[in-house]
Amino acid sequence: MLLQTLSYPQVVEEICDLRWSDLSRDDLLAVSEAYYYFSVQFREAVEIACETYPGDHKLTELRDGECDTNNLSPYPGVAEPKEKMNHDEFMRRVLAMSSIDPNVRAKLKKLGAAYLAQVRQTDPATLIMSLPSYEDGGLERVFSAMLLARDWEEPSLKAFQHFLVGHVRLDSDPDAGHGALCRHLVPDDRILPLWNAFRDILVEAAPILAN
Ligand SMILES: [Fe+2]
Ligand SMILES: [Fe+2]
Repeated sequence: MLLQTLSYPQVVEEICDLRWSDLSRDDLLAVSEAYYYFSVQFREAVEIACETYPGDHKLTELRDGECDTNNLSPYPGVAEPKEKMNHDEFMRRVLAMSSIDPNVRAKLKKLGAAYLAQVRQTDPATLIMSLPSYEDGGLERVFSAMLLARDWEEPSLKAFQHFLVGHVRLDSDPDAGHGALCRHLVPDDRILPLWNAFRDILVEAAPILAN
């Protein structure tokens, strides 16, 4: 039997190998804005998974760690002590503090809408199997790469950094982390377009990443 080689992990690698440490503060503001759109589709995928498998307690626990949760609270200007919210709502509030150029924001809004339209055409089974590719090491690696950026000296970027560091912590525990809660959903390369779209929106937000 031939062992199937999956392609999507190569895209994870590609994202990690982008020039994160070369980002300027403005580039990083654009990346945080692009990431928000990822966080929306991620939360939607978690909800679809829970609707599809209502008896799956691990997925319920994953949703509890991503939606209506206080596991990133408090953060000044974003979340009150113990305040519960979805993680994409946390990101929306992060961006509300952002000093990003309004023209850049308008451009990213268009990119984000196109990205979300594309992802939302994906069939539910593929969205569901994408979860472990994010939670069981994928995002931990991507976020660790993003954290190589050097200039976080802006209130929304400090909050984004808190989000990223918090996620490395939430996902990484091998037994109780978010990865362990969805590892039973096994991804295959049907998820490749999702990872390609994630890479593309990051690079479109900050083209220097791919130089
Ligand atoms: Fe999250
Ligand atoms: Fe997570």
